[in-house]
Parts: sequence; structure tokens; C-alpha cells
Amino acid sequence: MKHQDLLFTNDVAAELDKIVKDYGAPLTFILVDENTRHHVLPRLLSSATALSDAKIITVKPGDINKNLDSLALIWSELQNGGANRRSLMINLGGGMVTDMGGFAASTFKRGLRFVNIPTTLLSAVDAAVGGKTGINFNGLKNEVGVFNEADAVIISTCYFSTLPVEELHSGYAEMLKHGLIDNEENYNRLLSYRIEDADSGRLLSLLRESVMVKRRIVEEDPHEHGIRRALNLGHTAGHAFESLAMRRGNPIPHGYAVAWGCVVELVLSHMKAGFPSSELQRFARYVYDNYGSMHVTCDDYPEILELMHHDKKNISNEINFTLLSGIGEIMIDRTATEEEIKTALDIFRDLTHQ
Ligand code: GLY
Repeated sequence: MKHQDLLFTNDVAAELDKIVKDYGAPLTFILVDENTRHHVLPRLLSSATALSDAKIITVKPGDINKNLDSLALIWSELQNGGANRRSLMINLGGGMVTDMGGFAASTFKRGLRFVNIPTTLLSAVDAAVGGKTGINFNGLKNEVGVFNEADAVIISTCYFSTLPVEELHSGYAEMLKHGLIDNEENYNRLLSYRIEDADSGRLLSLLRESVMVKRRIVEEDPHEHGIRRALNLGHTAGHAFESLAMRRGNPIPHGYAVAWGCVVELVLSHMKAGFPSSELQRFARYVYDNYGSMHVTCDDYPEILELMHHDKKNISNEINFTLLSGIGEIMIDRTATEEEIKTALDIFRDLTHQ
């Protein structure tokens, strides 16, 4: 695995200036979407002196544009701008920009160096770190891509002040997941912080702890053959909730689906691996208080199960979960029967007051 600099700072421009000078790249490209071009880029350009000649590549925002057309546009702009193997690409944005920019940089002329600067909490804690790059293809999410770590990731809370609180909660759910798979101290610290308070210094230190959980796991298993699946906690049920909401024409933020998915999967953890019921109740209460609930009825169960069967994490016909026997006690590659999953959904509904 290549060495990656993970930098936590609230002076992004200074870090970036250092990196651009150290790399000595003759040409720098900055990838943004229309939102980050408008809201974030001007501030960065006004303070980062090493970016005065950088070429800007802009794509349309949203996961729907993480596609082959946008990728082709990025490759064309790199080509027209004279990019070569010594060029540097800076991906400034949320997960869509860092995923697609990482893929474009990894494939253009067989690989340029790239730096991720995540601008949302969700991308800072998850997408920008860990080397998963790619695009959606033929209606399937992240269908084509490569594992390739950014050369550096600059993580800052300075862009979060303009994010809607719902977006902050969404990112925080991935931090809670990291706390659950790490240890009780980390988890308890997260449960006692209020994201609405947006104390950016404290959030930066929690974020550092959270990103380091991911980094440790990715270092051990970069290509997801084993322990990296711990990061999928909450995602089997969560992705099913996300897809169900999408089909209903009422999309939900990814992190909300993950928070609810974690409750379902901790119920399964309790049923199948002895996860303590007091901790399950504490987590469920926290999730209900901060995320509300996903409205589901028994009539939705067949569709939820069908969506879980299609999850790309499944190895055979069985539905694959990451479970916990306690906080920080990870059990990967566990399966559950349809009856067990239906019972877990019943308990999820009770725990979240439906
Ligand atoms: N988002 C989970 C992972 O990077 O493996």
C-alpha cells in the first residue's frame, strides 16, 4: 500500500501550498462540482498561493452525475490541459468528487498523483480515505473503479459550517459506526457530543480519531478480503432502507439509512452474538432522538429482504452481515435467516417507537 499523508488542519491552504511545492508538480488540476466551485473554491484560491496557475475542471453535482460522461469530461480536460504523469490532481468536494476524481486520476496515463480535500463530514470520515475510487455504471452504484489511495487527504472542519444539520448528522452516523467497531471510550465520546453545537475544534479531534479507525482497518485489509468488511456494519440493512426510500420517491440521506441499519444489525447482534441489550437500547434511543425512524410496515418486509439479497456484499444466496458481540468485538461474514431478519425489523420498529 502506498504511503498516504493524512492531514488534519483548519488551515487547508497552508497544507496544500506545502504539498504542491513538495511534489514540484509542473501542472495542477482542481476537480470541483458546481457547488464546491461556487461555495468553496474561491476561498481556497484566494489563500493558497501555489494554486494560482491551477486549471479548474467542473462537473455537475450529485451521485447521478458520477458516471461515464462526467469521467470522459475529466479525462478530456486533463488531456486538453496537457496533463502528464508528473501532474497533480486535487479533488475538492464530497464523496462524488473524490470517488470519481480518484478514478480519473488513477487511470489517466496510468495514474497521476492526487490529493483529496473532502468538503462534507460524510466524505471526510468515509469516502475520501481508504482508496475506493470509481463511478456508477448501467444503473449500479460504484460498479467500475479501482482501489488506489490518494497521496494525501487534507481533512478540515472549516467547510462544514455551511452544511445543513441533516448533512452533519448523516456524516456523524459513519463516525458512530466507527465508534461501535473500535472501543467503548471512542463510542462514549461520540455519544456525548452534540453535532448541532458544531464546535469545530472538538469535532476535528473526534474526526481524527474516527478516520484513524478506518485507516487502521484499511491498512490491514486494503482490498476488502476480510476485516475491512467491519466497515460494512449497518450497511446491509442501511442500503436496503436507502433503496426502498428511493423506490418510494422519497430519498433519505445515506447516514440516516446507516444509523437505522446499525440499529437493525445490533438487534441481530444481540440475537445471534450476545451483544448486550442495555447497549442496544442506549444506541437505539440515541438514533431515535437524533435521526427519528424509517417508517416500515410488515408489508415492506418482502421488498427489504429482496433488496438485501441483491447486496453486492453477499457471497452466496445468503444475506451477509457484520455483527458485534460487544462494542469493538467484530464478527464479519455472519448470515441471518429471513425469519431472523423479520424479527430484527419488528424489534427495530419497537425500539424506534413505531
Ligand atoms: N465505506 C466502507 C469502506 O470504505 O470500506
